[in-house]
Amino acid sequence: MGAKVPPQPALIFISEVSDTRGWQRQLAERLPEVETRIWPDFGSKDDIVAALVWKHPPGALRQFPNLKIIVNLGAGVNFILADPDLPPGVPIVRLVDPGLTRRITEYVALHTLALHRRLPELALAQRAAVWRYIHPTDPATCCVGVMGLGNLGKSALEVLGQFGFRRAGWSRTPKTLPGVDCFHGSEGLAPFLSRCDLLICLLPGTAATENLIDRRVLGLLPKGAAFINLGRGSIVVDDDLIAALDSGQLSHAVLDVFRAEPLPSEHPYWRHPKVTITPHNSSATDPNTAAQQVADNIRRVLAQQPPFNLVDPDVGY
Ligand code: NDP
Ligand code: OXD
Repeated sequence: MGAKVPPQPALIFISEVSDTRGWQRQLAERLPEVETRIWPDFGSKDDIVAALVWKHPPGALRQFPNLKIIVNLGAGVNFILADPDLPPGVPIVRLVDPGLTRRITEYVALHTLALHRRLPELALAQRAAVWRYIHPTDPATCCVGVMGLGNLGKSALEVLGQFGFRRAGWSRTPKTLPGVDCFHGSEGLAPFLSRCDLLICLLPGTAATENLIDRRVLGLLPKGAAFINLGRGSIVVDDDLIAALDSGQLSHAVLDVFRAEPLPSEHPYWRHPKVTITPHNSSATDPNTAAQQVADNIRRVLAQQPPFNLVDPDVGY
């Protein structure tokens, strides 16, 4: 953090999936004093004061001696923290993007309502030309539980409340949210799960959450519960999820994130009748709504102030 600002400060943008042009435009407007360079054309290594990254090549960030901040171009930072060769002492920040939050919340509403109205079963019946009348039920008879009560989990729960669902939440540390039965830690997990007719995972992928959703956890849900995973694929034991779907312990799973992305074509999820797959597109960072905080954070570190939305590498989020 103490190194001098080079005469031509620049940031390096490394992402194959982000809206690169949109970011370039927004950053040129909001941070004109820092030039945006697109990987792998970083020019002089000494110029690079900031890195904006999504799935960067491991070790790539170590080569910039004046790097003062690493900005994750998304909410989950597991891809950055998986790099064993990060430059030591450089702060890592993540995006807390209102545009991203809005789209995740839409996705939660979309799939919660679809599952509550048993749309997957109606779709199967239609394919068989069967008139299968399913009586619609009151959302108040259904409890939706959200694992992860951060920016995304809280926003999702707020909208679910507007539809009249009963709500529960689970986090690492204690939380109080109006109208939500809140639980935390390992001792809070079983009582939380026992009331979830629909379980939604909005947890980060960390050492503590890896393989968390396994046979035992799925077995603690009421029989016939549904599941939505928006957090990370590493949180779910895939074989246990498939077994729970096959046995009827789970009625349906909606999956947006996977251990390997793209999901390999031979993976059993693709053809499972009780699985809905979306290609990690429940949301995306929007430069229009996220660029200002990036500009502010870069200015802050250049002025030797601590940035916002700092990641704690020790807890992994
Ligand atoms: P936040 O950091 O704001 O919130 C994380 C939440 O998870 C916190 O409530 C935290 O608890 C809880 N948590 C973390 N570890 C544990 C644990 N071991 N046990 C119980 N609770 C835990 O993150 P966001 O809400 O912004 O995002 C959550 C995740 O969603 C991201 O990390 C990412 O993996 C995923 N995501 C997926 C997207 C997609 O397109 N599918 C898009 C964006 C994000 P506490 O409050 O106590 O700290
Ligand atoms: C994520 C994101 O963390 O898209 O998955 O932001």
